Amino acid sequence: MRALVVYESMFGNTRQVAMAVADGMADGADVTVTDVADAPDRVPDDVELVVVGGPTHAFSMSRAPTRQDAVRQGGAMADAATGIREWLHALPAPTRPCSFAAFDTRVDMPLLPGAASRAASRVARKLGFSMIDPVSFLVQGYQGPLVEGQLERARDWGHGLTERLAG
Ligand SMILES: Cc1cc2nc3c(=O)[nH]c(=O)nc-3n(C[C@H](O)[C@H](O)[C@H](O)COP(=O)(O)O)c2cc1C
Repeated sequence: MRALVVYESMFGNTRQVAMAVADGMADGADVTVTDVADAPDRVPDDVELVVVGGPTHAFSMSRAPTRQDAVRQGGAMADAATGIREWLHALPAPTRPCSFAAFDTRVDMPLLPGAASRAASRVARKLGFSMIDPVSFLVQGYQGPLVEGQLERARDWGHGLTERLAG
């Protein structure tokens, strides 16, 4: 199975999670991991699973102004140019059956509503992907670090994705 993991990250936490998810998938799939800035503008025909991850900004996927805000807080300027919102909205519908799973990172505050992964899933559902439930990974503050245990969770989640599709 071929799988594509596309991530966006301003402070590096979502990137770390994306790498761990891909690591977990590696037993069951030929995985390509890419920053959203370098992601293909359509899903390659032989890809059966697309995984998309981004930081939760203002209760949803980031936008140009929230990414600029992140840059003001020490995020990398190079990562502010585009995000998963823009990539997904420009993505054509897949031409073959393809599964989609989204993840996000968000701060560890249970009462704060909204998750980028849910917003990303809504866009993907409309495009006709077969949907897998989204999941959030937690950071301790806007810049991180990740809450303990999140990379292990990410690896397990990635492993579960490919097992589920193989089954
Ligand atoms: C402008 C801005 C808005 C944010 N809004 C939220 C939010 O609504 N909910 C939340 O849980 N985290 C929010 N955060 C924290 C981000 O989720 C956090 O910075 C991100 O998970 C870190 O991932 P990264 O290192 O990959 O950028 C916000 C961060 C920024 C910079």
